[in-house]
Amino acid sequence: MITLQNRTMPNITIINGPNLNLLGKREPGVYGNESFEDFLAQLKKDFPQVHFTYFQSNVEGEIVNALQQYGFNQDGIIINPAAYTHTSIAIGDAIAAIQVPVIEVHISNVHAREDFRKISHVTSKAVGSIVGLGLKGYALATEWFVNNTH
Ligand code: DQA
Repeated sequence: MITLQNRTMPNITIINGPNLNLLGKREPGVYGNESFEDFLAQLKKDFPQVHFTYFQSNVEGEIVNALQQYGFNQDGIIINPAAYTHTSIAIGDAIAAIQVPVIEVHISNVHAREDFRKISHVTSKAVGSIVGLGLKGYALATEWFVNNTH
């Protein structure tokens, strides 16, 4: 938490997993037409009191490294591990290992899709999960951290 002119600025890191760098171009019927960069610019305007860090990788180990890097010095982490949600014991273990509370976000409703998307190695380690509400899920997770960070 950085204190500026008696205002506290929550530090929130957003971590996106594989193929989320293609948001806006990727299966727009499932994931929408907006790029994450455009969405993040608006999110920063909507939450001027938050200091955001954004990290995206298509590589599992880099996501584990990011969780270790940010997992002890932030007020909250919002993670969408994308396909690694369903496969990565390492990402689940990293979330269990760190101190910062984590909210899991999925843009699509993973429970209404293929069976393999119903498995998550993250849900049981997270404070909560938001699924199926589009990019709005990241804003709702941010709001939760803003209201629950002291
Ligand atoms: C996703 C859902 C995953 O099943 C999928 O592999 C993704 C995106 C979502 O945000 O809806 O890449 O995490």
